[in-house]
Amino acid sequence: MFARYRKSTNAAQPVKPVEVVPARPDPQPRKGAPSAAQGASGSQTAKPARPTDADRAAKRTQRMNAIKSDLHKRLLENLNLAALDSASEAELRSEINTIVAEALSEMDVVLNSEERTTLNRELYFEVMGLGPLEPLLQDDTVNDILVNGPKQVFIERAGKLELSDVTFRDERHLLRIIDKIVSAVGRRVDESNPYVDARLADGSRFNAMVPPVAVDGSLVSIRKFKKEKLSVSDLVKFGAFSEEMALYLEAAVATRLNVIVSGGTGSGKTTTLNALSSFIGNEERVLTIEDTAELQLQQIHVGRMESRPANMEGKGAVTQRDCLRNALRMRPDRIIVGETRGEEVIDMLQAMNTGHDGSMTTIHANSARDGISRLENMVAMAGIEMPLRAVRSQIGSAVHLIVQASRLQDGSRRMVSITEITGMEGEIITMQEIFRFERTGLEPDGTILGHFTGTGIRSHYADRFKRWGYDLPASIYDEVKVRR
Ligand SMILES: Nc1ncnc2c1ncn2[C@@H]1O[C@H](COP(=O)(O)OP(=O)(O)OP(=O)(O)O)[C@@H](O)[C@H]1O
Ligand SMILES: [Mg+2]
Repeated sequence: MFARYRKSTNAAQPVKPVEVVPARPDPQPRKGAPSAAQGASGSQTAKPARPTDADRAAKRTQRMNAIKSDLHKRLLENLNLAALDSASEAELRSEINTIVAEALSEMDVVLNSEERTTLNRELYFEVMGLGPLEPLLQDDTVNDILVNGPKQVFIERAGKLELSDVTFRDERHLLRIIDKIVSAVGRRVDESNPYVDARLADGSRFNAMVPPVAVDGSLVSIRKFKKEKLSVSDLVKFGAFSEEMALYLEAAVATRLNVIVSGGTGSGKTTTLNALSSFIGNEERVLTIEDTAELQLQQIHVGRMESRPANMEGKGAVTQRDCLRNALRMRPDRIIVGETRGEEVIDMLQAMNTGHDGSMTTIHANSARDGISRLENMVAMAGIEMPLRAVRSQIGSAVHLIVQASRLQDGSRRMVSITEITGMEGEIITMQEIFRFERTGLEPDGTILGHFTGTGIRSHYADRFKRWGYDLPASIYDEVKVRR
């Protein structure tokens, strides 16, 4: 029935017997552990040790890995890959199961039904998906996947990093999966091109670095794409910020202040930016520019751009700056740059200063003040010869407020501060903090205790908010003293 998915040469291929792995000692003994040879020479009288449960499990895993590797080779040899595109998932699974069953019987390997089901599933993922990564990609509770070489895969769940039980057979296996991902987007990764950024078919962000630059095996990081983005009310519910802060941010975005979300890696910058964009009116034309398209705006009038690295011949690069310059000719009301990290800072500041009020971006910085220094550095690095005072005055008039996101030690993500830029005094950009997260203690399980509070300072933009119809009660700026 499924013969169309098999290569016609199938019958002619000789069947090689599977290499059954003998129970040999671990080929790469851990540092410090005596090898089998050392053990034997060290003690003449030592009796052969009885295999423990762990030994038996390790042997079984080794055997299953050998079978998997062999079956995978056979599947690739036997499946007509060109016909796979048109097949349904059920057809493919069934075809794979049939080929596997035939091969197992030829190899004289008997497996119990659980092993068979696992094997069929894993082989399906090997052929059609991303192998061992596939179950993690399909698990919605996993946010990030971090691979440190073939034997160590960390995942982030609910803000906490944990070691998963997923492994690759060896570095070659891991490299094959990386290659599958990057070749699907027309890129290559090898010794001469040792790192790559890509977007998976489901929108997830992918980065890989391979040996020898990655010293102990390939490094992979995946930020899973979430279809259901966190909304402002979700973020309030999860304790990322308070209702008062949400009210303030709504007024700030709706009245077209230029906003920068600052924070460390994985602190929730993009998530916050996306949530804030929900306060943009539907009648506005918004253009987004990103290195990897992650933002998902809800407005009707949105144009999305994604920068592009150079191809293998070093040609065809389209930088964020190129996109931004072009965007300015496309009559946007607002521009959103996913992350400002380089020369595009100049055009971003200019856009914010010249009629594209309400533009937003994120930067990698640890505080509002640090964020300003980052911007200054980016301007300097872009090779613009401008006196520091001029750079500062550009930044001071372009940026209205900085929202600082942070991933705290307990894994929670919070908006730890909202700071307004109020102007310049001499050479110094002046700022005032309006809201902050007040940390009050630590639970024995590591949970951080605290609450959000106003600083008692009324917004510099309160009159503007009022003029635009956002008459916020003065009490939202009050200091909150919560006693435990
Ligand atoms: N307040 C929150 N509560 C729970 N999860 C959150 C929260 N904010 C962000 N996340 C999750 O944390 C992960 C990282 O978020 P996000 O991509 O926004 O971070 P980032 O600062 O933009 O990271 P990067 O520096 O890598 O670009 C995502 O999986 C996101 O869904
Ligand atoms: Mg981000």
